[in-house]
Amino acid sequence: KVDPVLKERCKDLILDLDTLREISRRFLHDVDKGLRKDTHATSIVKCFVTYVQDLPNGTENGKFLALDLGGTNFRVLLIELSKDHFEMRSKIYAIPQHIMLGSGEQLFDHIADCLASFMKQEQVIAETLPLGFTFSFPLTQKGLTKGILERWTKGFNCSNCVGNDVVQLLKDAIARRGDIQIKVCAILNDTTGTLMSCAWKNPNCRIGLIVGTGSNACYVEKQKNAELFDDEDKGSGNVIINLEWGAFGDDGALDFIRTEYDRDVDANSVNPGRQLHEKMISGMYMGELTRLALEKFTKEGLLFEGKASDALFTRGKFYTKYVSEIEGDPAGVITSCRDILEELGIYHATDQDCFNVRYVCECVSKRAADLASTGIATLLNKMNEARVTVAIDGSVYRYHPHFHDLMMQTISTLVNPGIKFDLMLSEDGSGRGAALVAAVACRTQQKG
Ligand code: BG6
Ligand code: GLC
Repeated sequence: KVDPVLKERCKDLILDLDTLREISRRFLHDVDKGLRKDTHATSIVKCFVTYVQDLPNGTENGKFLALDLGGTNFRVLLIELSKDHFEMRSKIYAIPQHIMLGSGEQLFDHIADCLASFMKQEQVIAETLPLGFTFSFPLTQKGLTKGILERWTKGFNCSNCVGNDVVQLLKDAIARRGDIQIKVCAILNDTTGTLMSCAWKNPNCRIGLIVGTGSNACYVEKQKNAELFDDEDKGSGNVIINLEWGAFGDDGALDFIRTEYDRDVDANSVNPGRQLHEKMISGMYMGELTRLALEKFTKEGLLFEGKASDALFTRGKFYTKYVSEIEGDPAGVITSCRDILEELGIYHATDQDCFNVRYVCECVSKRAADLASTGIATLLNKMNEARVTVAIDGSVYRYHPHFHDLMMQTISTLVNPGIKFDLMLSEDGSGRGAALVAAVACRTQQKG
């Protein structure tokens, strides 16, 4: 039912199996480079050592605070853990755009402000609780409580943070207030938090994946392969590696598949030339990629008789959630598509236009799923374990009606024979993971 001419014009968004295998080969090459001491500095895929060694064993307990910064929502959480039991209370606080793009001091003052108000509300203002800080940006870690910000990603760009230890920035902001006491036990990435959250109940979890505002993955590696791991305490012999795979392609490795839409999205972002893999996969960009294709096809006369609306021709107006909603209708049904087009001020769409719009959405989301799957299959093959569960979070995976199925299909095609895998949604987000890491960290920090 899709117009064959439009279908032909979408071809550059479709990645065939040979292409995915080539991407996998390049990605593996970059991961190995990131892990090695002599090549880490120049590597694009950074493979940051997280210093998280142990997966949860169920004995973790206590009361913890957690901060969750870097996804759609900034959250403050209070978590109680005991054997087989977990309770969580949380509150979402807004981070206004002027703070996302303001000074680091302003950002951390705002975070401390929210933390204090939450502690008051939860009546723990007078306690000194351990805190796990999920901070979802690239960090070079010097242990569990020291993380130097390498660069901002997604929509953040605060001054005076890159090159600094963000745990210290948080502590400074708390000290400036003087009304609360906390003990920061660990800083971690959301991929790590997601992996730990799911590993609490599922011992096969070895990979954490985010397909949300941004995209990234982490996995359990042997310490002997993580050449930058320099902790004297060798613990389990494993360590979680935060790949920061969003940066894959920043050296041109993905240029052979990037389209004019990708180049446009990148050029108009706050971080041009950076996070090129992420910009093809994640929710911050998927809607805009779709809009750009729709705009182009309209101007070529392939959609809406060549006439759309100001909204469709305006940057950022086609939200990623529209892609999920349009694809959520059963095949042949165009109710959501019509509603959305009307929301955008397009009232004259034909049924054929709607089928075509849906096809463009499908191409963009299938490509995102294929790229994420290629990364995951590469890791599964590299790890070469018989059974691995991938813990996943993020709005795209959570709300897109077919993302899970698309990923199951593509990973199955790419994974080596004999390797079994499951994809598991992290229902509770990454907060429990932050508390679990803090729990283990506090125990060892108290011992030492
Ligand atoms: C949340 C996690 O559920 O998902 C966060 O708690 C994570 O740590 C986020 O960053 C990712 O998804 P999104 O779509 O909010 O970016
Ligand atoms: C960005 C961040 C990364 C995070 C991901 C998902 O890629 O750099 O640290 O894990 O977004 O939130």
